[in-house]
Amino acid sequence: RKTPVALQEDGSYVISTYRELTAILHNPHLSSDFRNLSHPLAMSEGRTTPAFINLDPPEHDRLRRMAMRHFGPPHTPGLVTGLEPALTDTVGSLLDGFADKEQVDIVDEFAYPFPVRVICHLLGVPREDEPRFHRWVDDIVNSIDYNPETDPKEKAENGVRANNELNQYMSGLLEQRHGRPGEDLLARLANDDGPEGRMTDDEIVSTAHLLLIAGHETTVNLITNGMLTLLRHPEVLHRLRNDPGLVVPLVEELLRYEPPVHIIPWRAAYSDITVADTVIPKGARIVLMLASGSRDPQRFHEPDRFDPDRQDNQHLGFGSGIHLCFGGPLARREAQIALTELVRRLNRPRLLTDPPPYRRSPVLRGPIHLHIE
Ligand code: HEM
Repeated sequence: RKTPVALQEDGSYVISTYRELTAILHNPHLSSDFRNLSHPLAMSEGRTTPAFINLDPPEHDRLRRMAMRHFGPPHTPGLVTGLEPALTDTVGSLLDGFADKEQVDIVDEFAYPFPVRVICHLLGVPREDEPRFHRWVDDIVNSIDYNPETDPKEKAENGVRANNELNQYMSGLLEQRHGRPGEDLLARLANDDGPEGRMTDDEIVSTAHLLLIAGHETTVNLITNGMLTLLRHPEVLHRLRNDPGLVVPLVEELLRYEPPVHIIPWRAAYSDITVADTVIPKGARIVLMLASGSRDPQRFHEPDRFDPDRQDNQHLGFGSGIHLCFGGPLARREAQIALTELVRRLNRPRLLTDPPPYRRSPVLRGPIHLHIE
């Protein structure tokens, strides 16, 4: 509160309050382009086009619009409604696997496999290739965490290899779809002659890659953070079991109270930007503490209280401004179905380790295991 914009020793600026975060996220001089930054996420070799999350206007806007023609509103509600049976079936079959087990790991056995299956289904990845997808996503996500027990060089190499293999694999899927219109996202993007022309193959591969990475671990964490929070608030768990409609405001409150994306460390100032009377000089790195903004006492009453009845819950869980998450409707529905069914099907679940072990990530926050009995 005392220092909403804090200069760090390395010359970067950390922003942590709601008002300042919202202001800078809407500032046209804030850049997301990796080519202005030295960040490990920038390492994907063999990819000439960065994904649009790492681009600025006008390139960002063009690619986002072209992807949104198939994925974003107004398509998302239809897309999510169409997916509803697949989401419920996947959740049901994963939960069937819990039968007869005395203990389960909610991460390994449920929250992790669920969103991968959904994204593979959306992109049109054949079922038998899902385990390979799983491994690539693992290696890419692990390559940017801080775990001191793993070798950073080996992790970085694995990350680069996984990025390249995933891109090659996706290029192969895309080749099969040229000239063959179909329902999956790759087929739609490959055959779309929209008002802005077609995406190049490279752009489609980057977009597919982005959807996979942006939509996977984030959703895993939302479900896992959600289950953990419910186990710590048994009165809310009980309410949800008797009133499934509570899940909608509950997921919003989770996105505020235990958001998967804590920090966005990859922004830069295009030109001088003034925030809260501080001038951030051109070229400086800017670190956005989204989770801190969502617990700002100037904006949220009793911010450290988990309150699914909270009104006017404009959290920063999906960011804000031109890069606002466009997978939000899908992620919300995945988490809503997952939590409703977990609570319905688990009889008196009990947390075995509290706090559970967490991934050491510069961006994401969520347990790597959540053992219950
Ligand atoms: C962007 C969070 C799920 C696709 C973002 C951003 C946040 C976020 C904070 C803004 C990043 C920035 O400003 O640099 C989340 C959370 C999710 C989730 C917490 C789950 C709980 C998904 C899903 C998809 C998705 C399921 C798609 C399958 C994207 C894309 C962007 C994005 C494409 C980039 C948008 C742009 O640059 O214009 N997400 N996300 N996300 N997200 Fe999500």
